[in-house]
Amino acid sequence: MIRFSSIVRLNQPVRVSLQKMRCEPPLFAAWAELALYSYTFGLRVWYEGNSLVTHVVIVGAQWGDEGKAKITDMLAESADVVIRCQGGCNAGHTVSHQGNVFKFHLIPSGMLYPNKLCIIGPGTVINPHVLLQEIDTMQARGYSTANLRLSDRAHLTLPFHALLDKARENALAGKKIGTTGRGIAPTYMDKVGRNGIRIGDLYAPQSFLTERLTHTLEQNKAQLSALAVDIPTLSDLQAFCKEIAEQLKPYVCDTVALVHQAIKRDESLLFEGAQGTLLDVDYGTYPFVTSSNATAGGACTGSGVGPSQIDQVIGVMKAYTTRVGEGPFPTELHDHIGKHLLEVGQEFGTTTGRPRRCGWFDSVLARYSTQVNGLTGLAITKIDVMDDLDEIKLCVAYEHRETKERFHQFPSHITTLAELDPVYETFPGWKQPLQNIRRYEDLPTETRQYLKRLSELSEAPVQILSVGPERDQTIILEEPFQKTASLKKKEHSHGAQEPSLIS
Ligand code: GDP
Ligand code: IMO
Ligand code: MG
Repeated sequence: MIRFSSIVRLNQPVRVSLQKMRCEPPLFAAWAELALYSYTFGLRVWYEGNSLVTHVVIVGAQWGDEGKAKITDMLAESADVVIRCQGGCNAGHTVSHQGNVFKFHLIPSGMLYPNKLCIIGPGTVINPHVLLQEIDTMQARGYSTANLRLSDRAHLTLPFHALLDKARENALAGKKIGTTGRGIAPTYMDKVGRNGIRIGDLYAPQSFLTERLTHTLEQNKAQLSALAVDIPTLSDLQAFCKEIAEQLKPYVCDTVALVHQAIKRDESLLFEGAQGTLLDVDYGTYPFVTSSNATAGGACTGSGVGPSQIDQVIGVMKAYTTRVGEGPFPTELHDHIGKHLLEVGQEFGTTTGRPRRCGWFDSVLARYSTQVNGLTGLAITKIDVMDDLDEIKLCVAYEHRETKERFHQFPSHITTLAELDPVYETFPGWKQPLQNIRRYEDLPTETRQYLKRLSELSEAPVQILSVGPERDQTIILEEPFQKTASLKKKEHSHGAQEPSLIS
């Protein structure tokens, strides 16, 4: 990849020697310098029109577990920096490479490449024991973690947060959210309530940390005692912080500075989302959501990179839909097909092992995801799971159970969603294995027909199609990192996107 900054760097010694020559034949030196500036300017114009440097956001476009890690791992090859921006160890990200399976909860899914900078960003919440365990596992498997960095702005999940999470769920009895029990909501509640402990606090003067720990303890005491959770002492918390501070130290830094240095070096950034759009605290099926912004905006707030820096947003969606935990799910299947998707797709939570609820692809939901994330493309995963189905259904609209009114926009309230039934179009199955296909043209006509409609209704082009868990079991229709800046400008000036890359 050609970097503009390297061109400038290369020109620097020439420019200095020309400046030194100025008094010898001054006219020649002035002309030569002018020529050099024009050449550099010309290169800049060419470079900015043809830049290969792209910053790509990967988001889950359904209810999580869409295969974000597989897509992140695959695209990480073209990136210099991979950043996790939000969520915590509620995420379970599976990467499968040459038969080796890796399950990440906090470590970014770019970690399998030795030369990528992997950042756990400011918007995340960190259970230090989970992170340290993941680091140990990677090292034991022969992978270096020297390129891993943890933001000093990220928030710390304290041991009582996980206990509170479980106790709150138990107290909800029949109205459970079905959380992962990892203390995510209590940690984010303390963060937003300004009671939280940040990773950087571990290295602040002792008096500051003691004051913060005393404050967080005071603020949580009432709830802990109401839910009959053991209240830790200040010295328990101090000992916990002391123990983890030493172990985390080699990884902790101001990652905002690091990311912006990378941007200055014209390096490509890949933002790895966690959870999914319908689990986003603002845009999901509230209150059956997680506690962070899992949509594309969360990539910016969770990394310290502004929206103007983002070139593409790829929404990862399964070719069907799954959900783990409670909450409405219009296309959920309770029949043998739901069971088939669960078994063939091995739909069991990576973090909790819970079976995932399965259903047909929902294009009303997908279009909503395109809207709230500004998706520039889709990565469709797990299409191979549907190989044996006789027919495949695609939800094209919702219909009100009583009034029969049609809905094409995803409703903002779950009570409305609960009154709607899916309206389906039916497609013939392809009844053949897809896992070994590597070119779009080689896909069965029935598969292409299904994907074409899915893309039209989702209002975003399919850029990547995943036909199996392995890195190479992928069909790339358009490599996000190779979409040029000029193509992007053209798309914007024409207003509408190309309807589909698929014919
Ligand atoms: P994430 O949380 O979005 O990263 O997804 P998970 O890792 O929780 O779940 C996705 C599961 O599907 C993992 O077990 C992946 O190995 C697997 N997977 C990803 N893409 C494909 C695919 O195209 N086909 C099949 N059969 N499995 C896939
Ligand atoms: P990845 O990144 C699927 C769900 C939980 C629950 C709700 C709230 O692997 O896609 P929380 O513990 O966050 O307070 O739980 O969110 N949930 C996920 N579902 N994939 C995930 O992450 C999830 N992270 C949280 O099941 O319904
Ligand atoms: Mg997952």
